[in-house]
Order: sequence, then structure tokens, then C-alpha cells
Amino acid sequence: MLENKTVFLTGGGGGIGSETARMCADAGARVIVTDIDGDAAQSVADDLTGDGYDAVSHALDVTDPDQFSDLVSATADEYGLDAIVNNAGIGHDAAVTEEVPLSDRDRVMDVNIRGVWNGTRAALPVMKAQGSGSIVNVSSLAAIVGLPKQAVYSLSKGAVVSFTRAVAAEAGRAGVRVNAICPGFIDTGVGAEYFDESEDPERAREIHEQLYPLGRLGEASEVSSVIRFLISEESSYMTGNAVRVDGGYSIS
Ligand code: NAI
Repeated sequence: MLENKTVFLTGGGGGIGSETARMCADAGARVIVTDIDGDAAQSVADDLTGDGYDAVSHALDVTDPDQFSDLVSATADEYGLDAIVNNAGIGHDAAVTEEVPLSDRDRVMDVNIRGVWNGTRAALPVMKAQGSGSIVNVSSLAAIVGLPKQAVYSLSKGAVVSFTRAVAAEAGRAGVRVNAICPGFIDTGVGAEYFDESEDPERAREIHEQLYPLGRLGEASEVSSVIRFLISEESSYMTGNAVRVDGGYSIS
């Protein structure tokens, strides 16, 4: 499915990112695993190469536009660049809007919005020049439904969806597809933090599960498989979408 493709992945040291790295590698891709936590990225890449897959790792803070551009250019020069997955993202402590510390607000915007911008900006010149490429931006269910005490996160993930549409409209004729994915709660990373902050995390999970038509939270692999599909030529006529992978939550 991804033979001879190079996939550049941000936030690859964590839950959805590391699962996506493995799925893409398993589909035949060379995976460039990056994360602000360079050790985490390296451990993911080491596990993959240990299993015979093709992976390298780099420390990358997505909020740094120059570091991002330099690494994407170097990757493209050495291996080519077929896809970038702008997956790195952070949540924030649950708080009503007026009580969110401004430093939290700014940090979430920095990582979740500027990070996606920086990655897209770095990849577009390469992809446009070669006349092909797929950009996948990881948004969230929070971009679609109203979640109390998640205003900053929702604002940042809504921006990712709008940005995705704009760039898709702009870059399509150059052969570049741009899609977003909107996962529901996955019990890892950002999703797990959300539950663990409540007074009774197990009860909070049970209540949430009842809200999902499929009756359960999602697995990281169920998000990663859709990311892999959006990267691949199997989705060759899809661009500008915000694909919901949410167990039906947003339609219930
Ligand atoms: P995670 O916390 O396991 O992974 C996020 C990774 O991003 C971590 O490895 C972290 O070190 C890295 N990261 C954080 N700041 C960074 C920066 N400035 N530069 C580079 N890397 C950075 O979280 P998870 O859950 O795997 O999240 C992945 C993406 O999925 C995020 O964008 C998140 O918002 C999104 N998402 C997660 C959901 C969930 O329920 N887990 C639901 C919907 C969306």
C-alpha cells in the first residue's frame, strides 16, 4: 500500500503517532519518526528497525518553523517526501473558558495550530515541485462537537479543519491532497489525560462509552488505519475532508 513511500510523522513518540508509524512501516513505507521528545521518537524507530522495518528518528519541536523546514528539506533530499502527518498535539487542563491560564491558551495554539502550519509550509514546496503528496492533519472530535471546559483545545482543532480545507483548495491542482482526521476519545495520550483528570476516571470512561453508538472508546490503531488510508493512493480522490473516526459520537 505504501511501498517506496516516505512518510514524515510528527509527535511520533506517542500513542496515535507511534501506532501510525508502525502501520505505515508495515504497509511498506520508510517512516521518519519525529517528536519533541527525541528519545521517545528514537525508541519507536528502534522498535521498528528491530522488526525489520525502515525507520529513522529525529527530535523536532513543531513550533520551530526553521527547524521544521530544515528537517523536511533534508528528508526530501535524502529519501523523498510523499506524505506528512501533522500529528503532534497537546491538550490542556479542564477549565471553564474564562479561567484558562493565558499561558496554557498560548501553548495549545502554538503546538496545535502553528505546528500544523509549520509542517504544511515546510512540505508544500517539495510536494508541489514533484506534483504529488498527501498531507494529513490530526484534528479532533472537539472541532465538531461542543465539549465543556475544552474551549482552547476545540478552538485549535477547529482551526486545523478550516486550514486543511483552505490548503486543499489551494494545492489540489499541484497534485497535493490535504485531509484532516477527527478522532473521538482514544484511551491514550490526550484522551487518557482528559479522563484521568476527572474525580472518578473509570466512571467518566463508562459514561462516555454510553454516548458512543458503537458503545466503546476507540483504539489508536483505529485512527492510524484511517491516516494510512488518507496517505495512500486508495484515497486518491479525497481532499479537503475532515474524516470523523469517532464511533458515531458526533451523529448521536
Ligand atoms: P500523545 O500525548 O500520546 O502524543 C502526542 C505526541 O506529541 C507526544 O509524543 C508528544 O511528545 C508530542 N509533542 C507534544 N508537543 C510537541 C511539539 N511541540 N513538537 C513535537 N512533538 C510534540 O497524544 P495522542 O493522544 O496520541 O495525540 C496525538 C494527536 O491526536 C494529537 O494531535 C491529539 O490532539 C489528537 N487527538 C487525540 C485524541 C485522543 O483521544 N487521544 C482524540 C482526538 C485527537
